[in-house]
Amino acid sequence: MFKKLFAKRTDPQVELVPGGERFAVGRSQTVLESALKAGIAYPHDCTVGTCGSCRSRLISGKVDAITPFGYTLSREELEAGYILACQAVPESDLLIEVEMVGAEAAPQAVAARLAAMQDLTHDIKLVTWETAAALHYRAGQYMKVTWPGAPGPRAYSFSAAPLPGGQTRVSSFIRKVPGGAFTERLFAGELADAAFEIEAAHGTFWLRDGTGPILLVAGGSGLAPIMSLLEDAANRGMARDAILLFGGRAARDLYCGEAIAALAARWQGRFEYRPVLSEEPVEDCRFGLVTGEIPAALTDLGGSGTVQAYLCGPPAMIDAAVALLGAQGVGLSEIHYDKFTDASTISGTGMAAR
Ligand SMILES: Cc1cc2nc3c(=O)[nH]c(=O)nc-3n(C[C@H](O)[C@H](O)[C@H](O)COP(=O)(O)OP(=O)(O)OC[C@H]3O[C@@H](n4cnc5c(N)ncnc54)[C@H](O)[C@@H]3O)c2cc1C
Ligand code: FES
Repeated sequence: MFKKLFAKRTDPQVELVPGGERFAVGRSQTVLESALKAGIAYPHDCTVGTCGSCRSRLISGKVDAITPFGYTLSREELEAGYILACQAVPESDLLIEVEMVGAEAAPQAVAARLAAMQDLTHDIKLVTWETAAALHYRAGQYMKVTWPGAPGPRAYSFSAAPLPGGQTRVSSFIRKVPGGAFTERLFAGELADAAFEIEAAHGTFWLRDGTGPILLVAGGSGLAPIMSLLEDAANRGMARDAILLFGGRAARDLYCGEAIAALAARWQGRFEYRPVLSEEPVEDCRFGLVTGEIPAALTDLGGSGTVQAYLCGPPAMIDAAVALLGAQGVGLSEIHYDKFTDASTISGTGMAAR
């Protein structure tokens, strides 16, 4: 018994598949912390369990969660064994499946000033900043914006395709959130001359390699990274079939119609745009929840077997879409998303606003 009590405890060992990387996790450390210490480019971003970038599938072993994974991961993901590496402390040796997205350049912080604001809808603006030095990003990624007196940075997805050599003008579609610390002031014009700081690039929401069809689902300002991603793909002559579902409530929520039509015109494969409104029947728009259109879109793309899905917008929309896609047979590893969480979402986790 004494032998057992005083036996030297070895640190839990982690093995990653498919890459075969191995590392030990020190006492009370998370899988992510130890992986990064071991020099492994484990995908991550927020490190506090809110962004989902470190989503991985636990194949064997047991972990303790610092913050419940369920605040960020859907029921389907939890049932399939997904964990958040930044919140997972091993209780045994682990075998983990993770999509290594490749080492990205470390985010860079630069000074910025507001260059332009233009109405897109009644509550979304196209906001453009001019930066003191060139920023580089991949289509689909986002920046973190800070302004004087900010309670914390706010994340905004780039809305245009990146320029090859980097750029000093960056833009996003920003929705006004009632009671929001940043967007209320931005929309009131109070930050017109503010000294901003922009840190980029963040996130792993970019188009994965493949030749099969893609289904894109956006809600509200979630169209920003989707437009960036589609424009970039069109610039590269993408020939994959694509259906873009956009969800809003009423006609006044629709925007980017001309830009989407221009994209469709130069897209090499099939491209279809399907706006879906939940509260107002409008000609040429489908009526109902945007997620309700997912099964038909999958069928039109030739079935769930080869489809990659890209989802962006409010957390509730993403959770519903992940559930539906899973039920339709799309593998969770083929579903990529950015949830537009805010202080209200994060307050439920007991974490500070990002
Ligand atoms: C990866 C990512 C990308 C994003 N990209 C975009 C984008 O391209 N476009 C876009 O419009 N948005 C985007 N967002 C959302 C954006 O980052 C902000 O969260 C959003 O603009 C709100 O910021 P805010 O400061 O105005 O509101 P916040 O201050 O964050 O407040 C949001 C809401 O929460 C309420 N609230 C504040 N504190 C609490 C609390 N403690 N408890 C409960 N409720 C509280 C507020 O009253 C308000 O209604 C993105 C988010 C993420 C994570
Ligand atoms: S890095 Fe783990 S959830 Fe963001």
